[in-house]
Amino acid sequence: MSSRNIWTHKGTFLLAAVGSAVGLGNLWRFPYLTGENGGGAFILVYAMTIAIVGIPILIAETLIGRASRRSPIMGMKHLTESQGLNNAWRSIGWMGAAAAFIILSFYSVIAGWAVHYTGLMFSGSLAGADAAAIGASFDNLLASPGLLLMYHTLFIVGSGLIVGMGIHKGIEGSLRFLMPSLFLILLVVLVYSLMVGDAAAALSFLFTFNLQDLSLEGWLEAMGQSFFTLSLGMGAIMAYGAYMSGEASLTRTAFAIALVDTVVALMAGVAIFALVFGSGLEAAQGPGLMFVTLPIAFAQLPGGSILGGVFFVLVIGAALTSAISLVEPVAAWLVERFGFSRPKAVALMVGLCWLLGLVTVFSFNLWSEGTITHQLFDRSPFDVLEFITNILMPLGGLLIALFAGWALSRDAVLGEMGTNAGWFSIWQFLVRFIAPTAVAFVFLRTIPQIEG
Ligand code: PHE
Ligand code: NA
Repeated sequence: MSSRNIWTHKGTFLLAAVGSAVGLGNLWRFPYLTGENGGGAFILVYAMTIAIVGIPILIAETLIGRASRRSPIMGMKHLTESQGLNNAWRSIGWMGAAAAFIILSFYSVIAGWAVHYTGLMFSGSLAGADAAAIGASFDNLLASPGLLLMYHTLFIVGSGLIVGMGIHKGIEGSLRFLMPSLFLILLVVLVYSLMVGDAAAALSFLFTFNLQDLSLEGWLEAMGQSFFTLSLGMGAIMAYGAYMSGEASLTRTAFAIALVDTVVALMAGVAIFALVFGSGLEAAQGPGLMFVTLPIAFAQLPGGSILGGVFFVLVIGAALTSAISLVEPVAAWLVERFGFSRPKAVALMVGLCWLLGLVTVFSFNLWSEGTITHQLFDRSPFDVLEFITNILMPLGGLLIALFAGWALSRDAVLGEMGTNAGWFSIWQFLVRFIAPTAVAFVFLRTIPQIEG
């Protein structure tokens, strides 16, 4: 039975969780958020939230997964029943699955843009193009539902194929090849950017700070980013945790995941800003930083077409190893709950996600500003989806912290955490008081945005 599946090695969970964590959040979202929110000040707050909120919740989510040894939905059912707890806790499983489903639907569309840019780069068609032409080519991509749909389909089918082959052959097998390759590519891109770009400007932008540069919005963005980047609150880590060896240390593994994820984000930040500043471009470009500003820099640089292509391959690979962790929790549930074969469960999950992805695809063209759909919600349907996940993620994280901190029996928690008393009490304090307070704060700030 699939719920009895365990990763092949003691360290495989770490590999899989790093694969999940490192993705568009590091390469695309982290640099543009840093660029928009004052550089070093944002990074400082981000690092703090990773340490006192992200890591404790990461431990809690892994713990719940491993204690239940089931998919998030069935696992929460099992834990609440076997411990005689309130049924309401089961919402953690359902909300996680819903969030995973929604996130995969747009994650795939955005990863699809990287597929397009890989082609543009390697074919050399942007070489020497000016900023206006490159901006226009991005606008053209977004204006074309057909193109977006094709890339979205390619990407999501690729993720489905991997998960469909099972956790050993599919997920472990692909990670064992992809993760070292991705790290190597990142190193190559970093070295290139340090050689041809303005490394000094990038380092001073990222590592010197003036706390006044950071608005309250920036603080909240930093907290949201720490959830997104560590894959928290979506059942992804819980599902992978269900397969984790009982011998691996939860604390040590969580520290390692957070460390690698942060280092990768910083390496990507240094590489991207060295190229951007080296070409005299601006940091605060928002989501277009990777898809417009960076290609403008590559277009002018020696070897830019090839290195740019290599960079976008990295983006696709990192996104792929994250996407599979979004397919797994829902697919595993379909297998456990309805007895579907794995390929059938994956096909159902991926098929429905593909369908929901159309909402994002059309948000940039058929349903963009000025159309009735846009007016109906006063924002694009894609923004609505993103907004829903921005609520589900912290809410899931909050409940996970409370469940592990207060509801689960001491025996169950100690059984997973081991007996290292020092770490245990620090973790318990953070997960009981600090993380919930911090998350509640973000959450209360998000609600008023419903008004518009
Ligand atoms: N952590 C991933 C990233 O940084 C995104 C993700 C979120 C993946 C949730 C899985 C689950 O890109
Ligand atoms: Na990440």
